[in-house]
Amino acid sequence: MTWRMDVTSTGRPSVILGGSGSLDALEERAAGAVDAGSRLYVLTDLNVRAAWGDQVLALLAPAELRDAVLVLPPGETTKSVASAAACWEWLAVRGARRDDIVVALGGGVIGDLAGFVASTHLRGMGLWQLPTSLLAQVDSSVGGKTAVNLGAGKNLVGSFYQPDLVVPDPRFLATLADNEYINGLGEVAKYALLDDGGLLDLLESGMAPIHAREPAFMERVIERCISYKATVVEQDERDNGVRATLNLGHTTAHALEVSLGYGTIGHGTAVALGLLVALAVSEAVVGLPTPVRKRTESLLEALGLPTRAVLPPAEELLGAASRDKKVRAGSSGFVCLRDLGRPVWNVDVPRDVFSQALEVIRL
Ligand code: GLY
Repeated sequence: MTWRMDVTSTGRPSVILGGSGSLDALEERAAGAVDAGSRLYVLTDLNVRAAWGDQVLALLAPAELRDAVLVLPPGETTKSVASAAACWEWLAVRGARRDDIVVALGGGVIGDLAGFVASTHLRGMGLWQLPTSLLAQVDSSVGGKTAVNLGAGKNLVGSFYQPDLVVPDPRFLATLADNEYINGLGEVAKYALLDDGGLLDLLESGMAPIHAREPAFMERVIERCISYKATVVEQDERDNGVRATLNLGHTTAHALEVSLGYGTIGHGTAVALGLLVALAVSEAVVGLPTPVRKRTESLLEALGLPTRAVLPPAEELLGAASRDKKVRAGSSGFVCLRDLGRPVWNVDVPRDVFSQALEVIRL
């Protein structure tokens, strides 16, 4: 069943159309955009172009996209200043206007890059997000964070820019590589801990449809994650307060990604490991009951995510964590959980507590 969510108390309003078959709404949306005089410019990557390009471009047919599809190489290296510059030139040469729309067709890399390009070209164009990966559907396509990477670190340059339209159709998930799908489940697990328990119950009861990627089941999972995120983003679009809770597990995850090397470990996989560390820290610092970590470990195992990893020395991870974007004056910016559905943020975690907590995931 398709569903609609409106994110309104943000700088730009966003309409989210989800559920199996939501993609079909694109035809009418494209016709509406054309009637309003807008043109569409599609940014995608080679893999997604091959898997979904024909179907999506057929839906966007009212926009006559003859020369308006830019196919980029897949992978994290595409999320660069050089790619953004290539997109700006491509749009400029085609005479793109402010009332035209950049359409991001792809996973997190394409979504973040296209969002950044749309927010900066002519100081802001229209933006539609058509997220094709689970990670992009439940997290990165919603909430308006855009970014490119620098040599010095991931997501260091970006903007807050809400997409006009997001269409997380779970039918896209059918063509995802197994590791990419499981990676997305790491972010889903994060929402299960932040949520009041309903999502955790849903996941625990739905392992068969989750692994079968059943659209009718996954549309409920995706809706629940997005609904949680949208509520938080409406309260704190620019990440000055409660939005930090969406970073549960991310201090360790980013440290793992930096230390092991980007691409060596998937972001969602790193988040899954980071969740267990965050829960161990939470037991020590804010009194989280221990059974929550045990339950989370079982959930991650059932989802096919790792709960242990060969780690670099704790000092190296602590160093990487101290350079995290979330660090603010006077706080390590750590997110903890008092209980299921009760996150606390900006927690200052002593080094020895963090160091000990890392041991729970050490192989
Ligand atoms: N992925 C965290 C956020 O959007 O704030």
